[in-house]
Amino acid sequence: MQVAVLISGRGSNLEALINAQNGYQISHVISDNFNAKGIKTAKNHGITNTVINWNNRIEAESMLCELLQEVAADLVVLAGFMRILSTKTLQAVERIINIHPSLLPKYPGLNTHQKVIDNQDKWHGATVHVVNEELDAGLILAQTRFAVDANQNANQLAAELITKEHKLLTTVVGLIAQDKLKWQHQVVYMNEKTCTEPLQINF
Ligand code: GRF
Repeated sequence: MQVAVLISGRGSNLEALINAQNGYQISHVISDNFNAKGIKTAKNHGITNTVINWNNRIEAESMLCELLQEVAADLVVLAGFMRILSTKTLQAVERIINIHPSLLPKYPGLNTHQKVIDNQDKWHGATVHVVNEELDAGLILAQTRFAVDANQNANQLAAELITKEHKLLTTVVGLIAQDKLKWQHQVVYMNEKTCTEPLQINF
C-alpha cells in the first residue's frame, strides 16, 4: 500500500510512519510549509517530497490532487497538517485520515493538552479519524488513552501523548494496509466485524 503523508511542521508522526513501514510504503511527503522539519526528514530517508505554496487555496488543492493521483497514493495521512481540505479534494481522494491529539469528539482544534488540564479531565489521548470538511470531525477509527496525573502540565501531557500518537498512527496504518481495518458509509469494520465503539488501542 502506497501512503502519502501531508505535514506542516515537525513531522515526528511522519518519522514514526517512515520507521515502521509495516506492510505499507511512504511514497511521497507533501507540505504547505517550506521550512517544515518533516521535509528534511523525508529527504534524509530518500523519500520524494513536494512543498506546495498554499497562498492560493484553490490552486494549491488542485496541485495536491494532481500530485496524489500521480503518486498513486492508496491512503493519504494528515500528520500535523494545519489546513482544512475542500469537498472537491476530499472527493478526489479515496481514503484520507488524520491524527489528532485529543479524545475526539472532545477538543477539536488547538491547545488540546491545556484544555484537558483546565477541565481537570481524568483521561487524555489521541484519535485517528477519517477526514471530512469539518475540523477534526470525521468518522473515528481508533483511539489511545491514558490516565492524567493531576500534577502534569500541558507540556508534560504533550510529551507523554506524542509517543503514544506515533504508536497509534503506525498501528492503524498497518491495520489498514493489511485490510483488517476498513470503513464505508460511516461504519468502521475490524476483521470484517462492525465496530460499535471506536477501536481502543492502548500502549
Ligand atoms: C500531533 O500532535 C498531531 O496529533 C497533530 O499535530 C501534531 C503534529 O506533530 N495533528 P508532528 O508534526 O507529527 O511531530
